[in-house]
Amino acid sequence: MQPRIAPSLLSADFARLAEAAAAVPSSDWLHVDVMDNHFVPNLTIGLPVVQALRASTDLPLDCHLMIDDPDRWAPPYAEEAGAHNVTVHAEAAADPVMIARDLRAAGALAGLAIKPGTPLEPYLELLRSYDTLLVMTVEPGFGGQEFIADVLPKVREARRRVESGHLTLAIEVDGGINTDTILAAAEAGADVFVAGSAVYHADDPDRAVGELRELARKAS
Ligand code: DX5
Ligand code: ZN
Repeated sequence: MQPRIAPSLLSADFARLAEAAAAVPSSDWLHVDVMDNHFVPNLTIGLPVVQALRASTDLPLDCHLMIDDPDRWAPPYAEEAGAHNVTVHAEAAADPVMIARDLRAAGALAGLAIKPGTPLEPYLELLRSYDTLLVMTVEPGFGGQEFIADVLPKVREARRRVESGHLTLAIEVDGGINTDTILAAAEAGADVFVAGSAVYHADDPDRAVGELRELARKAS
């Protein structure tokens, strides 16, 4: 299992997104938090900005849609913005299997996210349609929050299902990931690690990416 690190632009300077992407050349994915001020109490960026980003970096874009009605709004991130992975929230999706079909038809990976309070169990069957499971390790909406270790049993359970061949998924964790917490997440079975403040508040963001990857590698 090769750990992948996805710096979150939420902690970067929004007036300099292209430079923020260029500051982390060794990252595996670039995580883009889309918030609509309805699903979460915060507002960030949308499709036109993601399209502009696509044109200014070669890094695979990992779009995390914290929005209502992803059935309608998610596919364009794959179709029109060339996102590598598009993640929708299980709590907001009306027909998650159809969303995954649309995303894959547009050539993207399909991701399903669950909030800290959302159980994994009800989604295990439909996760067969997905490529990525994002287990939120903070309440979605803001960067810089503290890692919630209580959600790690969900990561462990998902990893068990992958190991036993029931599911084929990348398991992503998002929120409060830093050099202190990445070990626990990696040991639980995560293999994609989103890090906002731990990367963009570091003196050398690309070096922070390398340090996080090294720690995750040791744990797994
Ligand atoms: C929170 C976002 C995260 C956020 C993580 O809703 O989904 O991607 O950027 O930031 P840190 O790593 O600072 O917790
Ligand atoms: Zn995110």
